[in-house]
Amino acid sequence: MKSVTASRSRQAVHVNLLIVYLVALLLGAMTAHAQTNLSGYWLLKIPNGDGTFRETYLELKQDGEAITGKLYGRGPNGTSVSGSFKGNQLHFATVDSARSGTPATGAAFAGRQMVYDGSYEHGKLLLQTTFHRAAVNGVAERTTDEATLPPARLALPELHDVPDNGLARTPPMGWNSWNKFAGKVDDATIRKTADAIVASGMSKAGYVYINIDDTWEGSRDAKGNITTNTKFPDMKALADYVHSKGLKIGIYSSPGPQTCAGYEGSYGHEEQDAATYASWGMDYLKYDLCSARRIYNPTVEDTRGLYQKMGDALARTGRPIVYSLCEYGVADVWKWGADVGGNLWRTTGDIQDNWASMDRLGFAELDIAAYAKPGHWNDPDMLEIGNGGMTGDEYRTHMSLWSMLAAPLLAGNDVADMTDETKSILMNADVIAIDQDHLAKPIQTVSVNGKSVVLMRSLHDGSAAVGLFNRGDQPVEISFRWDSLHLKPVLGEKALRAVDLWKHEPITVEGDSYAAMVPAHGVALLKVSAAAENRF
Ligand code: GLA
Repeated sequence: MKSVTASRSRQAVHVNLLIVYLVALLLGAMTAHAQTNLSGYWLLKIPNGDGTFRETYLELKQDGEAITGKLYGRGPNGTSVSGSFKGNQLHFATVDSARSGTPATGAAFAGRQMVYDGSYEHGKLLLQTTFHRAAVNGVAERTTDEATLPPARLALPELHDVPDNGLARTPPMGWNSWNKFAGKVDDATIRKTADAIVASGMSKAGYVYINIDDTWEGSRDAKGNITTNTKFPDMKALADYVHSKGLKIGIYSSPGPQTCAGYEGSYGHEEQDAATYASWGMDYLKYDLCSARRIYNPTVEDTRGLYQKMGDALARTGRPIVYSLCEYGVADVWKWGADVGGNLWRTTGDIQDNWASMDRLGFAELDIAAYAKPGHWNDPDMLEIGNGGMTGDEYRTHMSLWSMLAAPLLAGNDVADMTDETKSILMNADVIAIDQDHLAKPIQTVSVNGKSVVLMRSLHDGSAAVGLFNRGDQPVEISFRWDSLHLKPVLGEKALRAVDLWKHEPITVEGDSYAAMVPAHGVALLKVSAAAENRF
């Protein structure tokens, strides 16, 4: 019996051990599964190289090897991502949902797919992505659902009209860092640009504002004051330098907690930030909606309230600061931009250095042209002239169209390194004179015939600027009747004079109409006058 009992108990021990072993295996498998299930919330931090981090929240859902989820960056609802997690290789990318947004807001973020690759190591995700064409590495750590939520909504002021600051009686002219330098802008770039704006003759041609766009920001100090990051060691000294060249200087922020590039925004610090900009000697502020879209609604009331807050804060500094609203046309900003003290307002998403983008943004302005007036301008975004993505003809169209629209002329290229053609486009004094015409009469459509568009604008001296635009990709003859310009005194009483502003040569005025062969994506730009005393 003893031995039977002993053997039974040995068997029992074996069975128990087996059970323990199986349970351990099962638990182990479950633990391993738990460790490698990436479902949950993550905070990805990518060093910007200037002492700050680009922070992105991820909500991942793992189903087998499939990964879906959301990336919380700039949009109000996050951007969907999808991908896979196989053999510890994680891959996911944003799904382009931007095109389903409203044209104005969607376009701002379209065409920028983010792709992430990496692995899971010791509870963290080691990820690589591409940002502004450069590979960057970051680490994501687990976080909570709450952490991904935007901060609580701060109350907005009651709406009132901010008094006109009296600035920008003609469309602002200058330069902005974003199109060419994006996150690489630094103190040296600004100084070099200021030097080149003067040396090239651009400042004499009217380009006076040197505007620092996103990525100058550091964190807030103990008193909540905004600081600069390591790329801008001394903003006051930089502003002094720019001023010493006879130029003006601009800066950038957002009404949201973060700017569009993920830097510190002015949320809840509007008054303080306006005072800081004034103390540095800033003459211009571009205020970009960005992350405020996660907190506020795209209504007139909310958007106007946000922009009024900063409009009031700028007014209280007592310093003349041009106020540039950047909210991509949300809530028909052209209808109320002037009431928040805005001197210009972006009407569209971001421009890109290609024909399709420039053509789309520029011609979309025709419908709202009448909202531009001295001190308050429609802004179809900054110039791409000289950045290399378009032909000379396309860049001449860009300059001609922006000038006909009375759009701000903010060069977006490297002005320290310009070809003669780029200089000839940016510094065509006759074309700039159309842009800067102080009457600011709205552009009119004379005719649209397929891809051939004739536009005109009456100028203060009784003359008219006429643009024959070929939006098509084949050369085409475009014509218009002289009497369609309704110049006074009318045709017959005095001879018309006309000059081609790109060829810099007079045009013989004969017959009822004028016809020109216009190259693909090109323009013929004329100034036509009936006044005998008018000399070109
Ligand atoms: C938005 C704006 C751009 C630029 C970037 C900076 O996209 O529309 O003009 O300021 O933000 O992050």
